[in-house]
Amino acid sequence: MIIPHSFPSINNNDYTDLEVLFRESFVGSKVDLNDLIVKKINNFLFAGETYVTQSGSQGLLIALKNLGVQETDKVALCSINCPSVVNVLKFIGAIPVYYDVRGTSDFRPSKSDIETVLKEHSPKVVIITHCFGVLVEREIISYISDNYEIKVIEDYATSFPSVYSRNIKVGQHSDCVIGSFGSTKPISGGIGGFISLKNSRFTPEYDVTTDENDKITFNINISSINQRLILNQLNRIDSILFKRKKIVEFYTKYLNIWQHSCDLFRAITFEDTGDLAKDLRSIGCELDVRSCLHPYVSSSDMENALNFNSYLSLPLNIKMYEYLVENKLL
Ligand SMILES: Cc1ncc(COP(=O)(O)O)c(C=O)c1O
Repeated sequence: MIIPHSFPSINNNDYTDLEVLFRESFVGSKVDLNDLIVKKINNFLFAGETYVTQSGSQGLLIALKNLGVQETDKVALCSINCPSVVNVLKFIGAIPVYYDVRGTSDFRPSKSDIETVLKEHSPKVVIITHCFGVLVEREIISYISDNYEIKVIEDYATSFPSVYSRNIKVGQHSDCVIGSFGSTKPISGGIGGFISLKNSRFTPEYDVTTDENDKITFNINISSINQRLILNQLNRIDSILFKRKKIVEFYTKYLNIWQHSCDLFRAITFEDTGDLAKDLRSIGCELDVRSCLHPYVSSSDMENALNFNSYLSLPLNIKMYEYLVENKLL
């Protein structure tokens, strides 16, 4: 038995829907599916104009362009991050400057972590990363956007679909939000992402040329295969989240899972997992041990981010859920 660390939440209905799609239709992007996905995404956002993109990285590229970021502009970002975020900045020629995180086992920045880098570098944009389902407090985001001449992007890629509460969604105090439906995300179409913009200069009409050169446009469509997978998962999001919560409940019988009430992306522990890790490995469970940062982040003054406690990430997917149900462990 192999339980992969990441596994998509795909079921038999999805296979059937894809078969129908291949049999009866074409696989190009479909406007009706796109509109339904956008409607679903907007349930989690203080929406501006929302577009489905081919990846979170593409959403971030549009976000930065929409905010007028150019070569040599500085962009502040979290020092615990995905290399693809740094690569988007390098692609534009923007200069990444990093803020630290709150603690060696807490990957959120504090207000002063962000202010330190803003005061030192005066970046044009700050990307606030909601890491692994644990959202940075709204008060911090509104304080930064109200008190600094700066544009704010919220990176929701590893935290969609966490929200502050039923009625309080993500994106109220920022200029835009980006998200990802990439292969390891809780809702995955294989590829995919989104961007939600306020004050948009972006238009998705890529196949007409325009003299309005203040508009940004190119092809961001995803195929109906990806659209169908994303939409089906968004339609059963409550059941997906229920299963994830059940798995976390199982783990918490044995150890503390970091911020387990809202951690919907990874089930992380900073503790010694002792026998549980041994038992999980013996049934073929893939565990992800992280003990170093990605190579782009090398600033020597990141007190917490450079010294964070190594952590173990446990499977949080339907394969694990099925194993626990079959073995009456829930
Ligand atoms: C924090 C963060 N932002 C952005 C991205 C980019 O998303 P994508 O892989 O869809 O380009 C990722 C990817 O995992 C991520 O972890």
